[in-house]
Amino acid sequence: MERKWWHNSVVYQIYPLSFKDTSGNGIGDVNGIIEKLDYLKELGVDVLWLSPIYKTPLDDNGYDISDYYDIDPLFGTLEDAKRMLKEAHDRGIKIIMDLVLNHTSDEHVWFKKALDGDEYYKDFYVWRKGKDGNPPSDVQSIFSGSAWEYVEEMDEYFFHLFSKRQPDLNWENEVVRNELYKMINFWLDLGFDGFRLDVIDLIGKEVDNKIFSNGPKMHDYIQEMYRKCFEGRDVMTVGEMGGANIEMAKLVSDPERKEFSMLFQFEMIALDQVKGKSKWELKELDFDDLKNNIIKWQDGLSEVGWNSNFWNNHDQPRVLSRWGNTDPKYRELSAKVFAGVLHSLRGTPYVYQGEELGMTGYKFNDFSELKDVESLNMIEEFRGYGWSDEKILESIRVKGRDNSRTPMQWNDSNNGGFTNNEPWLLVNPNYKEINAESQVGNDNSVFTFYKKMIELRKKSEISDLLVYGKFENIPTNNKYLFVFQRKLDMQELTVVANFSNEYIKYDNEFISGNIIISNYDEEKITGNEVKPYQITIYLK
Ligand code: GLC
Repeated sequence: MERKWWHNSVVYQIYPLSFKDTSGNGIGDVNGIIEKLDYLKELGVDVLWLSPIYKTPLDDNGYDISDYYDIDPLFGTLEDAKRMLKEAHDRGIKIIMDLVLNHTSDEHVWFKKALDGDEYYKDFYVWRKGKDGNPPSDVQSIFSGSAWEYVEEMDEYFFHLFSKRQPDLNWENEVVRNELYKMINFWLDLGFDGFRLDVIDLIGKEVDNKIFSNGPKMHDYIQEMYRKCFEGRDVMTVGEMGGANIEMAKLVSDPERKEFSMLFQFEMIALDQVKGKSKWELKELDFDDLKNNIIKWQDGLSEVGWNSNFWNNHDQPRVLSRWGNTDPKYRELSAKVFAGVLHSLRGTPYVYQGEELGMTGYKFNDFSELKDVESLNMIEEFRGYGWSDEKILESIRVKGRDNSRTPMQWNDSNNGGFTNNEPWLLVNPNYKEINAESQVGNDNSVFTFYKKMIELRKKSEISDLLVYGKFENIPTNNKYLFVFQRKLDMQELTVVANFSNEYIKYDNEFISGNIIISNYDEEKITGNEVKPYQITIYLK
């Protein structure tokens, strides 16, 4: 396969609102990102993905854009963003921006003109007449309630798959598509290195036929975007495609088809919810399901396409609280197991800010602490289904998006050093124990383990093995024990990872090679058992 720079990159996701505040408004900003570039360089990541920093009324924390061509003053200025890019490039770090193309904010000038009755702009969005005083259909918004919002002056409804302040764009209108492509080229011309494309599997939707993800025209639109924006540029693109299965993923990430470099698929994310129900209907994770899903995707894209591997992001709870162990006795060990597995799989690894410190989710005490529109809307919806407030709160604690959005914990000073003002979202009180300052330069820290894993990927002798080596699962008789190999030419890497707090009997006679990294001291590693949350990687 043709080699690309993003095959051996490690991407770090920055959620700007919560990264580092330098202006004192309680919200992270572009200058805060610049200030922390040396920290990121120290970690060794070489691509930053920034969640949106464009102009926004913040109804959905920036995923509601009111001007695609400018930075919101809360975050800084366009000049700051250019400086950030230069400073990053000077350190060998690339930056990809977030592109929200499925919808705009209701404060975008296109939507305002549409509301003023301008037919040209009205056709930028999706409108339908109601039926006998009811919405055009029963389609529900992902953020609760009807996906149709009535506008009295027009006597019509507009369509919104997310909040009612995020009207969906009409992708069937070629003018809309060209406007978006023009904007994409604006950012590429500034020198940005690519994009993460928000809910991009929805652009081919057919509202009247109730087809949303993977609509008939989706691939055509993506290929058109490729021709008009990415062709001839050495950029990286990752499409967020919640509805993707292996077949779709192959189509999207096969370089021959000229669509995206890779995609985020969410099959794994749904393993701890009741099948066929909303994400709020909790179910305990079966580790066999998790392993099998990883194996399925590793095998599925082994010949064609490319995986992106991640444990969490700004929409998902922190993995340590979700599937790991936050007990102080195991927290660091458990975080290192996730790190070791993430960086040993085939595909591009993504680290979500704070994951490299073993940050945990905050257990919200009551609804008043929440900020996320999805959770706030959900409360009303589920009260309507008869759920008690305790049950609702429990679901939000486990699955709510504010969970992973609490500010970065830089040091043990007030607010974890994130801001010297009131933070927009509360800081997890465990910042005194879990923070960057105490971990950088500390040999045994979670940070250093991530750093070492990233170094391995970059190290010439085994870089190719880690990046391009074939994945092979080695079946075990314990669901919490995940053993797999990577093979390339004569080289062989074996990963033995225990996702539980139990000692697991394990005859590892087939493992040959030297230990290249482990979260236990080498002397303590024996041949016939795996210790609680032990991860050990062997190289032959
Ligand atoms: C994506 C984003 C999420 C946002 C939604 C609507 O899933 O990651 O944060 O709310 O799209 O834009």
